[in-house]
Amino acid sequence: MGRGSAKPPGRPLSDAVRMDGSGPWTWSANPGQSVYNETIRKGKHGEWRRWDPRRSKVASGLLRTTGAPERLLPSPGEHVLYLGAGHGTTVSHIHDVVCHDGAPGRVVAVDLSPRCLRDLTRLSRARPGLVPVLGDARRPEGWRALLPRRATWVFQDVAQAHQASIFTSACERFLAPKGRGLLSLKVESDRGSDAGALRAKVERELAEADFALEEVINLEGFEDKHLLFVVGGPPSA
Ligand SMILES: C[S@@+](CC[C@H](N)C(=O)[O-])C[C@H]1O[C@@H](n2cnc3c(N)ncnc32)[C@H](O)[C@@H]1O
Repeated sequence: MGRGSAKPPGRPLSDAVRMDGSGPWTWSANPGQSVYNETIRKGKHGEWRRWDPRRSKVASGLLRTTGAPERLLPSPGEHVLYLGAGHGTTVSHIHDVVCHDGAPGRVVAVDLSPRCLRDLTRLSRARPGLVPVLGDARRPEGWRALLPRRATWVFQDVAQAHQASIFTSACERFLAPKGRGLLSLKVESDRGSDAGALRAKVERELAEADFALEEVINLEGFEDKHLLFVVGGPPSA
């Protein structure tokens, strides 16, 4: 690995991400600073940050997927869109990946909540390439200028009604043809639906919009009543 004297955790998924039995780790793009009190493993030239699968649907998806976990992640240097950024827990790990070793990646991180934006803005000061946006996933007119080209990776975690149609329309507008979209679906956020009916409805909506559904990952045990839908980019963009 060439990452100093301490033994790196687990096995590599890429230069930026490793995986052990407890979950993934990312090579920090901002060593010396923890974001949510996560476990840090130091090396001579930097450090690995444990990515807590109980605090991140992307991390739990990496553990639960039946396919190659690395395909669920963007690569260094890519431009990605994150809708429902919260306080930056998962965003910080995605930033570690796309800005790995100084790569010119960009994470456009959108959230409705001013309190979340305060934390995201603080995070972005030490993490060039992280672009915090106070905005509404349903109203891209307010923030689309910050994403000058299509994103290779779109993740949505807004936990509100009509999650699937918000995601479908964001991917139609912003996901690159060979990109990948991940929708974290909170079953309780769409009232009147049980898990089976909601899953079928989302699958129908994605098919109608011509997205290839690759996998639906059940996050039960990490995030109850959450499904993670994984789709390929739009056929034409
Ligand atoms: C479950 S939290 C996100 C947690 C975050 N993804 C993480 O892993 O750390 C959901 C977030 O979605 C935001 N949200 C809800 N509706 C939204 C919308 N229409 N546009 C943007 N953000 C929204 C909320 O303010 C909240 O911060």
